[in-house]
Amino acid sequence: MKLWGGRFATAESKLMEDFNSSLSFDKTLYKQDIAGSVAHVKMLSKCGILKKDEEYLILSALEEILQQIESGSLTIEGSYEDIHSFIEAKLTEILADIGKKLHTARSRNDQVAVDMKLYAKEKSNEIIIDVQRLIKVLKELGQKHSNVIMPGYTHMQRAQVITFKYHLLAYVSMLERDARRLHNAMDILDESPLGCCALAGTTYSIDREFTANALGFSKPVNNFLDGVSDRDYLIELLSAFSIIMMHLSRLCEELILWSTKEFNFVQISDQFATGSSIMPQKKNPDAAELIRGKTGRVYGSLISLLTTMKSLPLAYNKDMQEDKEPFFDSVDTVQASLKVMAEMLKTLKVNRNHMKEAVKMGFLNATEVADYLVLKGLPFRDAHSLVGKIVLYCEENQKAIEELNLEELNQFSNYFDETIYDYIEYENSLDKGIKKEMK
Ligand code: ARG
Repeated sequence: MKLWGGRFATAESKLMEDFNSSLSFDKTLYKQDIAGSVAHVKMLSKCGILKKDEEYLILSALEEILQQIESGSLTIEGSYEDIHSFIEAKLTEILADIGKKLHTARSRNDQVAVDMKLYAKEKSNEIIIDVQRLIKVLKELGQKHSNVIMPGYTHMQRAQVITFKYHLLAYVSMLERDARRLHNAMDILDESPLGCCALAGTTYSIDREFTANALGFSKPVNNFLDGVSDRDYLIELLSAFSIIMMHLSRLCEELILWSTKEFNFVQISDQFATGSSIMPQKKNPDAAELIRGKTGRVYGSLISLLTTMKSLPLAYNKDMQEDKEPFFDSVDTVQASLKVMAEMLKTLKVNRNHMKEAVKMGFLNATEVADYLVLKGLPFRDAHSLVGKIVLYCEENQKAIEELNLEELNQFSNYFDETIYDYIEYENSLDKGIKKEMK
């Protein structure tokens, strides 16, 4: 069953066979592996390296294997070294000697490199769609609550009034960058390594442009050594995935905080929460906590592959087989997290009154009071200090600034007149501030 038994006198130890085999996880690549072989066979035939009838037989056998895998009649298992050996073995079972011609002018090194790139492209495109879906959900949620005001925070202290919609739009901006990052990474990886063979190309006159084109790449790679040992694109995508998870995790953290009794700004739907086995009153925001937790797992994959690639001499080394599990796992994790986040937001309840109450009690118009005094002629620094004293007075007397009467305000400055109340009305601050930007 080995693709390389010829030069070996003694059989491989069972321990080594299990240790070495990647089939249990690289079976994920069966579709890409067959697609790569299809392009390769067509090219070999076009270049006169395979005969037309051989091309026909190999292509139909590959198609048959694909269908059997997809229908479940062929299970990918057994003591094969990897998915490449598995498919070649099945081909040879069907076609005998003709099947053995598939690997002409190819190595598993360029084969696995092209498989991984095809997989990375397919999954990145899917993730871009998942990101766009989440963007849509965030925009819809914002629109549904477009006039809900809430405190904006810095240092987790109430700072200035904003709208809930504007807060959500910050996440939209982050996710739009995420989608661009994925597009950029796909742009850079868009070169086919097929035809690099083991490390130094082949003596056959093959056509790398043809296979690149057939597989949807814009061109073949420039350098064979680099082509078979480049895993930059996986690292770059893992980095983009990590940033997506970091963004989701920040939003999760806010949802978790906002759904506490202390904040009570939102309610996560029962569908995305769980209870406690001992405390009957509990409703825990598990979905948000899990996304926050899984962020660490994706960061781990990024660090794992960066570390695997560090100090690897050119060209292919078996260490690189370790790229697969972390990458596959991260793809699954990011996709699941984006989907759960979208559903959780679709069913989120917003407690507009609590948000509004928090705005009122947070002196969120203090900056506008200072701005008002500046318009009346006071230097900003003096205005800042004066409003600080007003806030102190309000705290002592348990009042909001807008609840002070003119007499009280004039104790601090004669610049105050009736117009102050309109000026520091929350809606008016929004109109002068973030709403200008939202147009
Ligand atoms: N399973 C291997 C991997 O994932 C495939 C490439 C094997 N190449 C080799 N020269 N042994 O990297």
